Formats: sequence, structure tokens, C-alpha cells
Amino acid sequence: MNAVPVVGRVAELREAADAARARGGSVGLVPTMGYLHEGHQSLVARSAAENDLTVVSIFVNPLQFAEGEDYGTYPRDLDRDLEMCADAGAGLVFAPGAEEMYPQVPLTSVAVEGLNAVLEGWSRPAHFDGVATVVAKLFAMLGPGRAYFGEKDYQQLAVIRRMAADLSMPVEVVGCPTFREPDGLAMSSRNVYLAADERPAATVLWRSLQAGRDAVVQGSRDPGEVEAAMASVLAAEPLACPDYAAVVNAATLERPDVLDGELRLLVAARVGRARLIDNLGLDVGRL
Ligand code: PAF
Repeated sequence: MNAVPVVGRVAELREAADAARARGGSVGLVPTMGYLHEGHQSLVARSAAENDLTVVSIFVNPLQFAEGEDYGTYPRDLDRDLEMCADAGAGLVFAPGAEEMYPQVPLTSVAVEGLNAVLEGWSRPAHFDGVATVVAKLFAMLGPGRAYFGEKDYQQLAVIRRMAADLSMPVEVVGCPTFREPDGLAMSSRNVYLAADERPAATVLWRSLQAGRDAVVQGSRDPGEVEAAMASVLAAEPLACPDYAAVVNAATLERPDVLDGELRLLVAARVGRARLIDNLGLDVGRL
């Protein structure tokens, strides 16, 4: 298999994208923080099927980690990532250093107000501003026609969609389904933190989402009741420390008074060193 070219400078990235566009080609972007898994590969493969040049960015973005979070220990393995990118059909990897992404302390930040403050924002208040800012920079650096994000980080996808719409960014934000292990655990780079005895316990997030879905399917339209069904599954797992179990409107992320239309069930819990999140979509109109 051919190795995928890697660049670290914005000027090289732009040159490659401009050359593809000059040939009449389209450019797709898959932003990542590396330590790739099959879920990332599915985004790359989708982009490669829909665009002439697929760029994968690999950058562990310090802006989206708070003091005391895992920025320093976030798993990194560039060689393995490059093989996985090549395997999935990437045309170029952009792997900049922090000094290339942030040559000076940024005075500008992108805040998608409201969407940045709920759910993950309750315990990670500055997280989504960091995500939106780096993704806005990547869009400005590359100018992709499409950008691909996993639904596993559902709130992130909602934040980025809204940012792109509010700022009239000429990019189609494409959401792609979550990839799961056979026992239901959503694939995540942070699953590597799970110790052997914690790994089976981590399926509690998926089990909790299923309990929430079952409650809605069985007729509950009361968000409190559905959240209680999810929370009780989380609470029953001794190795899990639950953060939240919520049911919200899929577009606004607001909690409705009565469950109707397109919903998203979302859960977060700490299992050992790993803080895990997961979610599930449900359309009440189609039950
Ligand atoms: O989902 C991620 O890996 C990151 O939040 C992203 C979108 C690459 C921004 O750093």
C-alpha cells in the first residue's frame, strides 16, 4: 500500500488543496486528534468516496482541554495513524505542531452560545469553545467543501453545524454514525484508558441508552421518567461514576416538556481513568 503524504505547515496544506481544486477536484476534511480507530476510518472512507482529495488532520488541540484533563497523556501514535489513514483512502495528512496552529496566543475564540454550556459543557465549560475555534481554523486553513464528524460526539457535531451555519462557512458538515464494539461500547480513543476489569463495565453507557429507548418505545413521553430509566442503569454499575443521563431535542439540545419529534438520548460517566460519552437518536414520530 502507498504511504500517505504528511505535511506539517499550513502553506503546504493550502498548496495541496489548491492544486486539487485547480484540477477541478473537491476537498474533504476529517479533523481528528489522532490515535485513530475504525470509527475514524469510516469517516475517512466516506470522505474518500465523496471527494477527490481527503485530508485528515491530526492535532491534539490544547484549547479544548481544561487544567487537570488528559491533554499531556492523550494517546498518540502517528505511525499507526498514518497506516490507518492510508488504509482508509486518505490523500493527505496534516499533522501540525502547536506552534504552527497557534503561532501566537489567540485573542479570538468561537463560542456557540447555549450549545456550548449544556451537557458536556456542564462539566467542561471551555471545551466547545476550544473545539469550535480549532475547527474554524482548520476550515480557514484548508477550505474544505465537506467536513466529516462522528455522531459519537453528538454535541460537538451540533456545535460545529451551528457554527458553520451562523458564520456562513462554505462547508457541508457531514455527520456519520457511531462505530461500536460487538458488545455495544462506542469506539473512542479514550477506551485505551480502560483497565481489563473496567472494559465490560464500560458497556453500561450503551445499556443505559437502550433502557432510555425502551422507555420511550413503551410509551413514556416524560423526559424525567426516561432520564430516570437511563440513570438507574448507570447507577447499578459499581465501576461507573455517572455524570449525566439526558434526553433532548436533537437539533436544539434543549430538554422538551413532552417527548416528541427527533430526540437524542445522551449519557456520560467516568469508568476508571476514562470519561466516556455516548448517545442514541430516536424519532418519536416513527416509532
Ligand atoms: O473530535 C475530535 O477529535 C476533536 O474534538 C476535533 C474535532 C478534531 C477538534 O480538535
